[in-house]
Amino acid sequence: MSQPLTMIRPDDWHLHLRDGPVLTTTVGHSAKQFARAIIMPNLKKPVTTTELAMAYRDRILAAIPDGLAFSPLMTLYLTDDTSIEEIKRAGNSKHIVALKLYPAGATTNSSSGVSDIECTYSILEEMIEFNMPLLIHGEVTDPSIDIFDREKIFIERHLEPLTRRYPELKIVLEHITTHDAVAYVEEGNSTLAATITPHHLLLNRNAMLVGGIHPHHYCLPVLKRERHRQALVKAATGGNPRFFLGTDSAPHEIASKESGCGCAGIYSAHAALELYTEIFEAAVASFHGADFYGLPRNKETISLVKRPWVSPESYQFGEEGTVRPFRAGEALDWTLYANLHRTIQ
Ligand code: DOR
Ligand code: ZN
Repeated sequence: MSQPLTMIRPDDWHLHLRDGPVLTTTVGHSAKQFARAIIMPNLKKPVTTTELAMAYRDRILAAIPDGLAFSPLMTLYLTDDTSIEEIKRAGNSKHIVALKLYPAGATTNSSSGVSDIECTYSILEEMIEFNMPLLIHGEVTDPSIDIFDREKIFIERHLEPLTRRYPELKIVLEHITTHDAVAYVEEGNSTLAATITPHHLLLNRNAMLVGGIHPHHYCLPVLKRERHRQALVKAATGGNPRFFLGTDSAPHEIASKESGCGCAGIYSAHAALELYTEIFEAAVASFHGADFYGLPRNKETISLVKRPWVSPESYQFGEEGTVRPFRAGEALDWTLYANLHRTIQ
């Protein structure tokens, strides 16, 4: 066996846990890997208030397996109707750390999202008072824009005016997928950061479209060309503290993925660190997110060994459903120490 790779236990700065019985699977997987995670609020009934977020947090805490420590960092879902009072309540709650902006219609459960970013300006000003970051799904929804260009056009049309108007607003451009987004974040000031997913680091759009259509590789923003993937790998491994880990692990039941109109999302929480380690084969840049959010760095460590194991075909997902994880049925090179028992010899 090769030398184990030991690192400070990382955090996941972008995670979908969903709700209800599936929390047993999703929280179990993430708690094994990460110390903390930013919890996305796009539930079927979006998490739009501090009260809803606190109740959701309690359900997540109840699903943490015995013996594991995991802190969910809650976010609120911004709508056209979010009030200043709600921002004050969130800002004063130590468990709500950010707000999420979904352009209405951009992705899963985003129909209650924001229809016009300019209409949220008073809300953003209140967030600045509390130093609360705005987490952005950065894609335009304009039907005339090609789906592969939606991130780039979002940056030009919306992000650029926003960062110019509010340079002091902390912004995380979530799950970036393009060379353009990398360049924009690199050129931005210290209040602008981005998360990068394992699937956008490992796959280009061929993985979705060559040799048939692969619904389990369909996510949003959609996978891009190889040159974009390469720009992401360079950003993720380049040491710039404004790029950090966010899995965007987003489970959907198999039937909703393998469908005439399949849902967007890749479930990677079961092997997130193993997948990232394939790209880094060295330290995962685990302090960048904590430093950006102004949270303490983790002290505990976690180890991986270079030993293959085969990712299961599926996991139970709620009482009757199943979810197919990333790399289902395929070998992964790295194994989390805590999971050595499942290693294929
Ligand atoms: O692929 C995605 N799945 N992208 C998103 O933005 C949302 C997520 C989900 O919630 O399913
Ligand atoms: Zn997401």
